[in-house]
Amino acid sequence: MLKVGVLVSGGGTNLQAILDAIDNGTVTNAKVCMVLSNNPKAYALERARKHGIPAECVSPKDFPDRAAFHAALLEKVDSYGLDLIVLAGFLVKVPEEMIRRYRNRIINIHPSLIPSFCGVGYYGLKVHEAALARGVKITGATVHFVDEGMDSGPILLQKAVEVHEGDTPERLQRRVMEEAEWKLLPMAIDLIANHKLEGSDGK
Ligand code: GAR
Repeated sequence: MLKVGVLVSGGGTNLQAILDAIDNGTVTNAKVCMVLSNNPKAYALERARKHGIPAECVSPKDFPDRAAFHAALLEKVDSYGLDLIVLAGFLVKVPEEMIRRYRNRIINIHPSLIPSFCGVGYYGLKVHEAALARGVKITGATVHFVDEGMDSGPILLQKAVEVHEGDTPERLQRRVMEEAEWKLLPMAIDLIANHKLEGSDGK
């Protein structure tokens, strides 16, 4: 059974998609053991509690500097003995020590077709604003392993989504979530949990 920790910062619809997929058997051999947020107000924490999953908060505001925040974050994550860390709308840059320690065991969902609209400054709604400003006709979502760069790790899964005439960033964000993100992230976990993905030790 793959022990999964989900790191979040906001609403947690991707977390919900993972929990639902485990509950309805779309994802097998995986269990969400903890949900952690940098933001105490993240609704994702509430979703975890409702599901009886430990909901943790490690906020940078509670620490004197970045190093102390990173140490506390790592200590909390380590305490759960996780096999896989899933970044589901986690808007904090992952500390390098965590990337080293969990090499090929951290995945992230990004709301575009990488390498478009990714990297520093591209997160959440900003990604969809940029896609609309550029006038692309196709966008989508990507699940990738996390390395030291920003959105630069090996790509696991991608799914294309059409941009429609008259889309607002909010409408496009919703369609990318419904048609791509909420399917791709559970699928990636299922592939890793069932040893079907290269690059994972899939315990
Ligand atoms: C999702 O669209 C996710 O792809 C994005 O944040 C949103 C979180 O929504 N992540 C990034 O932009 C990372 N660069 P959620 O809290 O409802 O899952």
